[in-house]
Amino acid sequence: MFNGKRLILGVTGGIAAYKAVELCRLLVKAGAGVRVVMTAAAGRFVTPLTFQTTSGNRVYQDLFAANEEYSVAHVGLAQETDLLVIAPATANCLGKIAAGIADDLLTTLVLAARSPVLLAPAMNEAMWDSAQVRANVARLAGLGFFFAGPADGELACGGAGHGRMASPEEIFAAAGDILLQPQKWRGKRVLVTAGPTREALDPVRFLTNRSSGRMGYALARAASEQGAAVTLVSGPVSLPPPAGVEVIRVTAAQEMLEAVLQRFHETDVVFKAAAVADFRPAVESGQKIKKSGELTLTLLKNPDILAELGRRKKQQLLVGFAAETENVGMYARGKLSAKNLDLIVANDLTQEGAGFDVDTNIVQLIFRDGTIKSLPILSKLEVARAILGELRQKYFDVPGEIVYET
Ligand code: CTP
Repeated sequence: MFNGKRLILGVTGGIAAYKAVELCRLLVKAGAGVRVVMTAAAGRFVTPLTFQTTSGNRVYQDLFAANEEYSVAHVGLAQETDLLVIAPATANCLGKIAAGIADDLLTTLVLAARSPVLLAPAMNEAMWDSAQVRANVARLAGLGFFFAGPADGELACGGAGHGRMASPEEIFAAAGDILLQPQKWRGKRVLVTAGPTREALDPVRFLTNRSSGRMGYALARAASEQGAAVTLVSGPVSLPPPAGVEVIRVTAAQEMLEAVLQRFHETDVVFKAAAVADFRPAVESGQKIKKSGELTLTLLKNPDILAELGRRKKQQLLVGFAAETENVGMYARGKLSAKNLDLIVANDLTQEGAGFDVDTNIVQLIFRDGTIKSLPILSKLEVARAILGELRQKYFDVPGEIVYET
């Protein structure tokens, strides 16, 4: 599966370092060439000999070691790598990488690396929840770093909680997702919106819709796997954040509008997969509304976020979504031109296997130039990959442009 792939496994000083041995074994068994780089603190938990035996290669520890193989170890190692995995990645290591500090071989390699970097954080729950680590993780995700975990479970400090390193199998699977996807969106900045919005009536009630967020989350995941730096502005959904993606959580349409506008100028492609509530209650009651008598609601029109982006757009590509129950093509084309879009992804909600609550979708891609592409029933992740592929072919595949393959 990983035949011919060259990986660096970075191990930092946490108790989960012993689990990195199993990860190393899984990677080697799958055919990857693995070179292990340990920090000094990692050597306090597991000996280099263990990793040397598991990887079948010498272990790298010292930034300044003279060695015959690489004249400048960090440049040589960094250039010959398809993926750099750091497991466990301690809070200290995340902080250094987020700040661009390079004070040992591993952090120097991260700075010099041109390959994707997958981080498997491991720390206690309080550290993971700290404002500093939250900010570092958000920054790293925004810079295009991938994350696997952390998971819930027993912690070394006693008790249970969030912060435990993802299992070797999960990290292995995340590495596969990155390695086996061509990095054709590297260098592109992508903004995805997903999920419903909630428009408050009173402190306990709101208006919303049935959007699950799955299509938007699949797009964010697929774009990130293919190397894009992805920001996901998400309404309230119960999906886990995709690896490597900066997630901004919002509730109401107005908040989504603000989050999107703030980032629009530094974005190359926007996927507007969110099902934004078209109306909001004219008045949000400060107190819970009581059930005495009848209730008449006055609704006000919400801003149309996509139409606003259409008015402001310069170089950005805009992708909209149209979920319809009749006249799909006609309505979708109407939205494409009214909102100044480059592509609209249309689906017919009446078809079995399309729409909100299912894992599959059946869509038609209608481009600005009138080209139409109908896709068969596919999983939402496959739909996402197809959309990315079509867009790339149409807009980015300039002859002679360098395409990064892994
Ligand atoms: N959209 C938006 N802001 C809104 C409403 C919709 O950004 N207030 C975006 C959606 O994210 C989606 C596209 O616009 O990409 C859907 O187009 P729209 O015409 O708003 O669809 P509907 O709300 O379904 O419109 P209609 O009720 O007219 O079918």
